[in-house]
Amino acid sequence: MPWPREISLQGGNFSLTKSFKVNITGDPNSRIFIGATQFIRRLDGRTGLFLEQAHLTKINEVPEAELQINIIRNGEIKLKEDESYQLTVVSNKILINATTDLGALHGLETLLQLLQNSSASFYFPNVTISDSPRFIWRGLMIDAARHFQPVDVIKRNLDAMASMKMNVFHWHLADDQGWRIEMKNHPKLNELSTDGSYYTQEEIKNIVKYAAERGILVVPEIDVPGHASALLTAYPEIGSKLAADPAYTVKRNSGIYNSTLDPTNPKTYQLLGEIFDEVCPLFPGDYFHIGGDENNGKEWNANPQIQEFKTENKMSSNHDLQTYFNMQLIPMLKKHNKKLMGWEEIMTENMSKNAIIHAWRGTNEGQASGGSLAKAAKNGYQTVLSNGYYIDLMLSIDKHYLNDPIPSNSTLSSEEKVKILGGEAAMWSELVTPLNIDSRIWPRTAAIAERLWSEADITDLNSLHKRLKTISWRLEELGISHIRNKEVILRNISNNQSTAPINDLSNVCEPLKNYSRNGGGKKYRMHSPLTLFADACTADAYDAYDFDKAVMAYLENKSPENQIVVTDFFRKWIAMNGQLIDLSANAPLIQPLLPLSESLSELSQLLLLKIENKKIVQPTILTNLLEKCNSKKNADVELVVYNSLKKLSEMP
Ligand code: ACM
Repeated sequence: MPWPREISLQGGNFSLTKSFKVNITGDPNSRIFIGATQFIRRLDGRTGLFLEQAHLTKINEVPEAELQINIIRNGEIKLKEDESYQLTVVSNKILINATTDLGALHGLETLLQLLQNSSASFYFPNVTISDSPRFIWRGLMIDAARHFQPVDVIKRNLDAMASMKMNVFHWHLADDQGWRIEMKNHPKLNELSTDGSYYTQEEIKNIVKYAAERGILVVPEIDVPGHASALLTAYPEIGSKLAADPAYTVKRNSGIYNSTLDPTNPKTYQLLGEIFDEVCPLFPGDYFHIGGDENNGKEWNANPQIQEFKTENKMSSNHDLQTYFNMQLIPMLKKHNKKLMGWEEIMTENMSKNAIIHAWRGTNEGQASGGSLAKAAKNGYQTVLSNGYYIDLMLSIDKHYLNDPIPSNSTLSSEEKVKILGGEAAMWSELVTPLNIDSRIWPRTAAIAERLWSEADITDLNSLHKRLKTISWRLEELGISHIRNKEVILRNISNNQSTAPINDLSNVCEPLKNYSRNGGGKKYRMHSPLTLFADACTADAYDAYDFDKAVMAYLENKSPENQIVVTDFFRKWIAMNGQLIDLSANAPLIQPLLPLSESLSELSQLLLLKIENKKIVQPTILTNLLEKCNSKKNADVELVVYNSLKKLSEMP
């Protein structure tokens, strides 16, 4: 995963032994040596072989090595670089040929995924693979402004991205809730505009280097002119609010705020220029994201001076004014060889066609072909899709997976299609901390990575789910904590008693979706630790997929075999409820889970009677219980087996 362009499995295999070695030819820079060394250590971790080869360097070639990597030239960390590779495994040799070291790194990731085992040993199947990406922009955005995400969180996610052949890390570094970059020339931004958590410039350089070693471009974002509460807390003199309005403060709730830079004030541009002069050199890539989203215009509308400026300059709307603002930033960024990128709101009539438009609005239902992505491409802009890849909406993996930047019914011309660079998963961090962020990003982002790398016709959901079970687990090897941290949260809930029954319940519950969990942004705040049941639950609840399949099979064919798969679930949920009640005697955090658990248990008992004893159960009783199971008022979660329970209840 992502599925390669061409793959041909041959008979036979290559057995892995302790003497297995890697050799690199060509004259590449250090990147592939670091990558190959990590490849060996990951093989070590999986196999326990503890291979003899230590770290690889340019000067210790091993011509007799079984794995030969041939590279023609060094890749550059920019878009449109050659990322292709060819991988051949035969019984006594493995070959990776790539134009660039970036392609070779992808080849190593593919090879790691090919590792198989018998009862006592490990091997690679003989295979030939020829692979290259469909889209050149395969990104993940992490919002480090709402909840700060420390260096180790970023690094482990960069590792996971590289394993899924993703190549753009978009780093959302400033918003209403915090300014996360050390500013040597403007220390007020660190003293006044955060909760004390920000990246030092050395840390940023280190992360950019770490990303580059994995073939990943880092695109920083400083969100302006809206989402600027943190910036304006330090520099209120460039804000648009009236003097009599309350002072700007760093926000502790989620939401959209009025705080907006004053586009008519020369000091605004002076300060932004100084900020860019300090921030741009930290990021060698060609792109700089200026946000530009969700400027509600309230401060501009209320400020007579700003309205006067609009009239004087014949601007008919706030969009014109924001375009004026955006256009001032282009030369400031160009000075540092950066292209301006922004959320789709920057796409206005007079906006430079050199800007890159980041499409995001609407829900997952929004058709990429009809939305702002297609509009941007038609208007001649390069563009990146995030609509449909908002992983913080907590929607199912299937929706993200089937969300194609260029759907098969796209009406775009081939020139317009070229403008679509790819897509980006968006991890907004209102409801994530370092404890649970990985479980929101992974494994769903792996499915998005496949959509962006693999051919458009790779859409089989059964294949996706099957492969993802392995991929999800393998991500642990890279330090991704989505599986292990669940247990940490559940243990806190159980008060260090057994977590098994809470885990059973969590495997059929998902956090409320589409931002309905956070009560208009005010229920949970930036300092709320997020250690509740809903924080342990994930999208694509682990048992729900299997239960739904079991019910479907049973309704199609009521064989004893099909029946028992379904009734085993009921027995599990009945037992679970009893255990939860017992545990709750010494665990106050379990109390909010009991209403849902009890409803599920009672409904399970009745459905057992109905299925096993062929007893008629009063429909009104079933309807009542179903309603309780469908309540979204329990512990911020929904019971996602509801639809299957309903089908069984309504079955004659
Ligand atoms: C956004 O989600 N406001 C870009």
